[in-house]
Amino acid sequence: MTVQLKNDRFLRALLREPVDRTPVWMMRQAGRYLPEYRATRARAGSFMKLCGNPELACEVTLQPLARYPLDAAILFSDILTVPDAMGLGLSFEAGEGPKFASPVRNEAAVRALPIPDPEVELRYVMDAVRLIRRELDGRVPLIGFSGSPWTVATYMVEGGSSKTYAHIKAMLYDRPDLLEELLDRVTRATLAYLSAQVSAGAQALMVFDTWGSVLTPAAYKAFSLGPMRRLVEGLPREHNGQRIPLVLFTKGGGPWLEAMADTGCDGLGVDWTTDLADARARVGDRVALQGNLDPSVLYARPEIIRERVAEVLESFGKGNGHVFNLGHGIHPEVDPEHAGAMIRAVTELSPAYHQPD
Ligand code: CP3
Repeated sequence: MTVQLKNDRFLRALLREPVDRTPVWMMRQAGRYLPEYRATRARAGSFMKLCGNPELACEVTLQPLARYPLDAAILFSDILTVPDAMGLGLSFEAGEGPKFASPVRNEAAVRALPIPDPEVELRYVMDAVRLIRRELDGRVPLIGFSGSPWTVATYMVEGGSSKTYAHIKAMLYDRPDLLEELLDRVTRATLAYLSAQVSAGAQALMVFDTWGSVLTPAAYKAFSLGPMRRLVEGLPREHNGQRIPLVLFTKGGGPWLEAMADTGCDGLGVDWTTDLADARARVGDRVALQGNLDPSVLYARPEIIRERVAEVLESFGKGNGHVFNLGHGIHPEVDPEHAGAMIRAVTELSPAYHQPD
């Protein structure tokens, strides 16, 4: 697939090359805040059926692009499709979040975990990637993604979302060897999964480490960053002569940005608890930065949203290497007009940051 991209400013910004304005996309841009998403999900019957149907997954991936001048599309799927394909039996109960029928809590369960073949058990995801690329027709690049091995493992061991991480933390302290073995399997599955997304047409990759920040600094380095480094080292960084930029995002990972940049990734996601100017001073000559408007700013009036966008652009400052995003996923209650106000503000205010002095 060698379609020339009509808009490559997202890829250029991740490689810290010059752009005419700051590219913008939103985490969870295809999601419940959009009435057209809710309608398609209702047609699919459930969230997992929506993920499992390439035509419908493609449809919702493209919905936010029809509304807004976004600079990237992100594959519509979920980080938990991988453990589902490892046989854990994923379901989403309405209003309750994810549940696994068979959580992984002992040696036998860890050793029984297969490494799925992405073109077999996760074929529906690869078919969605191929279809989305065809439908995008080079308008903007397509981002593929996975969870970080640590974040995915928290769901596998807890059996769903958790406040205390009681089971996986007990494993971490009682049986670090067993947690290592689990993470090794999830890392191998994730490497195969992301590599297959690149072969299918993903033009950039992002790893979501939503729960790395529940760890101590030492445990973060061992159990969250370590497996992510294996991903950075093992993933294809080029495909058909095109660079495939790779972004790591640890929510709450502000204290560890230097260590994250040291992995050799291309970009770091930054949430709103870190000052972008400070982050740039620490790592900006090595990686691009993606972020970091507080998603709750979108509850405010459009004039206020514009002021806060201006603040984020100013905090990064002039020059290359910034991708505008929220600091985490867009909230389901946000008015789509407010998301539009944010995107418009980025397109109008950011060219000034890319002009020669
Ligand atoms: O960004 C995008 O538009 C791409 C799609 C995407 C989804 N999930 C769709 C989704 C991505 C990148 C994810 C990643 C994901 N999934 C993460 C890491 C990202 C992050 O936000 O930190 C995590 C932790 C999950 C696991 C997950 N999926 C949970 C805990 C839930 C329930 C949360 C809730 O608010 O109900 C999901 C469901 C989910 N994944 C939805 C969407 C649009 C909502 C499901 C629905 O339509 O009801």
